Amino acid sequence: MTVLEATPFSALIRAASRRQHEEAETSPFIADLLGGRLGLAAFRRYTEQLWVVYRALEAAADRLAGDPVAGPFVRPELFRTAALERDLDHLHEGGDWRAALRPLPATDAYAARVLQVARDWPGGYVAHHYTRYLGDLSGGQVIRSAAEKTWGLAHRGDGVRFYVFEAIGNPAAYKRDYRARLDALPVDGPERLRIVEECRRAFALNTGLFRELAGSAPRAE
Ligand code: HEM
Repeated sequence: MTVLEATPFSALIRAASRRQHEEAETSPFIADLLGGRLGLAAFRRYTEQLWVVYRALEAAADRLAGDPVAGPFVRPELFRTAALERDLDHLHEGGDWRAALRPLPATDAYAARVLQVARDWPGGYVAHHYTRYLGDLSGGQVIRSAAEKTWGLAHRGDGVRFYVFEAIGNPAAYKRDYRARLDALPVDGPERLRIVEECRRAFALNTGLFRELAGSAPRAE
């Protein structure tokens, strides 16, 4: 067994994406969001882009549920599309946001990659799943409280439901279980490296989206 195969996969993917995580976490868009320097319109636009991305992530769920690699990750308690729709109904005050929604080019690129791996490569899908859902269960909570405070949104209510996992009572325990599922992935050394590489790509797609959002976002008055 090589060192690569002896390292638990959850530790490997975490260590291998640490630098990308730091880059995402400190990107100007996220820093401005956390610092209360963005207007509600910017948060709304970000939420719209997330809707496009999560629709792509969740569109293939039924088909992937029985897959030996991706299947263990496809769990209804994580699904975010319905929560995003409630948030957007609220943030648009009931307006027809679907008709008006214009995905940014970075969002289109991100969703296209997710759809591609969901179709062709279950290991790649796991990389994207990990990058978003484990992040939402962690740093997502920091974003939620900043959003509640900055725009006066109801605590864990409409507008920030995306960040609230109603069916997950103990996020720390859930994350431990998620990491155990990563460690149990039935994949060999080279495939592990490919999945880690795809995780870095998933982070880069997020950072690219933050860059475009920063370029297009109206600042707080
Ligand atoms: C507001 C900005 C962010 C903060 C404050 C933040 C904070 C954190 C913290 C504290 C953890 C560790 C949780 C734990 O060990 O249980 C974590 C994990 C993680 N975050 Fe973030 N994060 C942020 C943004 C992001 C973004 C933008 C992404 C990707 C799109 C992301 C993806 C992840 C992932 C995948 C993990 C799991 C790492 C692992 O344990 O394997 N985070 N984050």
